[in-house]
Parts: sequence; C-alpha cells; structure tokens
Amino acid sequence: MDDLTLQVPQGSFFALLGPSGCGKTTTLRMVSGLEAPTAGRIRIGDSDITYTKPYARPVNTVFQNYALFPHMDIYENVAFGLKRRGVKDTQKQVDDALELIQLSSVAKRKPTQLSGGQQQRVALARAIVNRPAVLLLDEPLGALDLKLRRQMQLELKRIQTEVGLTFIHVTHDQEEAMTMADTVAVMNNGIIEQMGPPTELYESPKYGVRGQLPRPVEPVPGQGRRGGWRGPHPRGPRRPVPDAHEPRRQGVSTTAGTRVLVGVRPEKIAITRFADAGEAPTHGNFVDGHVLSMSFLGVSTQYEVRTRGGDMINVFSQNLDVHNVLPPGTEVRLSWLPHHGFVLSGGEDIHAGMDQAS
Ligand SMILES: Nc1ncnc2c1ncn2[C@@H]1O[C@H](COP(=O)(O)OP(=O)(O)OP(=O)(O)O)[C@@H](O)[C@H]1O
Ligand SMILES: [Mg+2]
Repeated sequence: MDDLTLQVPQGSFFALLGPSGCGKTTTLRMVSGLEAPTAGRIRIGDSDITYTKPYARPVNTVFQNYALFPHMDIYENVAFGLKRRGVKDTQKQVDDALELIQLSSVAKRKPTQLSGGQQQRVALARAIVNRPAVLLLDEPLGALDLKLRRQMQLELKRIQTEVGLTFIHVTHDQEEAMTMADTVAVMNNGIIEQMGPPTELYESPKYGVRGQLPRPVEPVPGQGRRGGWRGPHPRGPRRPVPDAHEPRRQGVSTTAGTRVLVGVRPEKIAITRFADAGEAPTHGNFVDGHVLSMSFLGVSTQYEVRTRGGDMINVFSQNLDVHNVLPPGTEVRLSWLPHHGFVLSGGEDIHAGMDQAS
C-alpha cells in the first residue's frame, strides 16, 4: 500500500476494484485489524481504531470461502456472534437475519445441507446480525457460478439498502462493482487510481479500458486549447471528444508531441459493412477495419475488429436482425458520436485496473 487515502461515506455501498495482487485484501485486513499500517490512521466515525484489537473493532468480514461452523446448524451459526458478545435473547435478531436472507425455512439444517449460494447468504447473515459499523466483503461471491453470482449481487444490494450498513466490497470484476456500489474505487499497485460513481467511471474512465481503443491521436501544435487534435480517422472531426471529457480536465497532457488515446465503449459503436458505409460522416468519429472474430451472445453480438491502423476494438452490436451478422473477414466501418468518446494518456497501461482473465 502506498499513501492510500479512502473516505467511505456512512451507509454507502463502496467497492474496491482492482486486479489480483493490487492490495485489496491488505486494505481490508488493515480495517479489520489483522494487519497494522506502518504509517497513517484508520478511523471509523470519530474513533481512531488504528491500534484497536481486531475483536474490539465494530467490523465484520465475509470471506470468499464462507467458512460456516460445520457442526452447528444455520440458526446457531447466525447466533454465534451475538452469543459470544453475551447477548441473552438472540431469538428475534436471528429470526430477522434469517428472514432477510430468505432462509428461515432451513434454520435447523447443517451447512453441508445447503447450496453454495445459500451458505454464502448465511455467512452474510452471520455478519450482519452483529450490526457492525462496517461490513467488509472480500470477494464473497467468487466461488459461485455466474448465474448465482448475478442473482447474489442484486440480493446483496437489496440487503445493504434494507439494513443501511456501510459495506466495503472487494472484487476484481468490474461489472460486479458497477452493479452494486454507490462508489467504486479503482485500485492498482497499491494506490487508488480513480474513484467515483459507477456511471462516471464507466463514461469517463482514466484507466482500466481494455481492447476498445482507436489508434492514438497526435495533438497538433498551435491549435489552442480545444482544437488541437484529431479523431482516429484523418477525415474525421477535429474534436473527437466532448468538452466534459477534454484531456486537460482528465489530467491528460496534450503538449504537442505527446500521445493521447481516444476511447469509446463497445456498446456505443455502430458497425456497418464498409461497402454500405457511403461517404465519411462529417460529425461522427469513425474508423475502418475488418472483423477478426464474432461471438453471438443472444441479446447482442460481440465483434473484435482490427482497424487499418492495426488496433483492436471491441463492438457490442444489439441483435436487431440476427440474419445480418458480419462474419470474420468482413470489411467494416465503425462509427460513434463524439460525445461518447473519452481520452486517456497515450503512455498509460491501458489494461490497468482490469482482470485479464475475465
Ligand atoms: N503478509 C504479507 N507479507 C508480504 N507481502 C504480502 C503479504 N500479504 C500480501 N502481500 C503482497 O501484497 C500485495 C497485495 O496483496 P493482497 O492480498 O492485498 O492483494 P489482492 O488485491 O487482495 O489480490 P487478490 O485479488 O488476488 O486477492 C501482493 O503483492 C502480495 O504478494
Ligand atoms: Mg484478495
């Protein structure tokens, strides 16, 4: 970790997103007290907990491997934290927690008699019943299959909204972070690279964009503040991104001679056969290339396109007409509206903050 500053608003669902080894678990371990920072402070509300013993912190953690007590039934698992703190009447709180995760009917079963997703919900109930000031979730859905994972993401969000606790959720899955969190912090190499609401991170990313970048744009010297660089096509518009995404506002250098990259999200791109494309559009950005691969995904078709400049761009095309998919080898034109573009520094690692495997 290096000079990490994080402020998580009370009652929010906060996601820490980053690739393996970037320091997510380490951050959580410092909050829960399993790891001591060499410098700096950790506060919850007004109280400084930097040197507070783990068990004395108002914090609970839910791990990837739910680790329920195998010899106890579900009810006893959920009641465990309350009993340990000497709470006498646990009945109502445990019943409420089981209702919250919609598993009241299996209270008398042992963990092995539940499915993976159900066990994970019990692990969540076991933590929530203690009403911690902060609930730490370290890839809690990692062991679940994709369908169950998606379902649990919505479930987790519902539960968080219902109980109003502060959740800090660690994941390397961008979609998961976006689905659930109010605020996402993108972490890489022990630092926070960007932080904001999901829509902002998605529409104006500074990092973490994978495989959908048109070729680098060279700024033109002497063109003033706004007009100094071109879109990906030589006959495209002069200002390939909107003012709100201007390089300077994004902290990207546009000194003559430096490189910037113009990016666009795959679902914002229109793909047409080059033969049908007609005249070059005067308002939109466009770039020509050919289809490298095509995967039919049901609601959409995903294309991988290699531009004539040699760059790779991903396109998600809605399946309005499934008989008109474009097979590999098809010469195509990609176009998009300037206000859908954003800029990144040319020298940045464009894969930062992303999990390569997913
Ligand atoms: N106890 C330790 N001593 C020294 N280095 C450690 C220790 N624990 C973790 N590290 C290192 O610190 C870095 C961050 O590890 P951390 O477990 O926080 O990553 P992570 O973001 O949670 O990754 P993953 O997504 O794989 O769980 C890694 O390079 C790791 O090797
Ligand atoms: Mg980890």
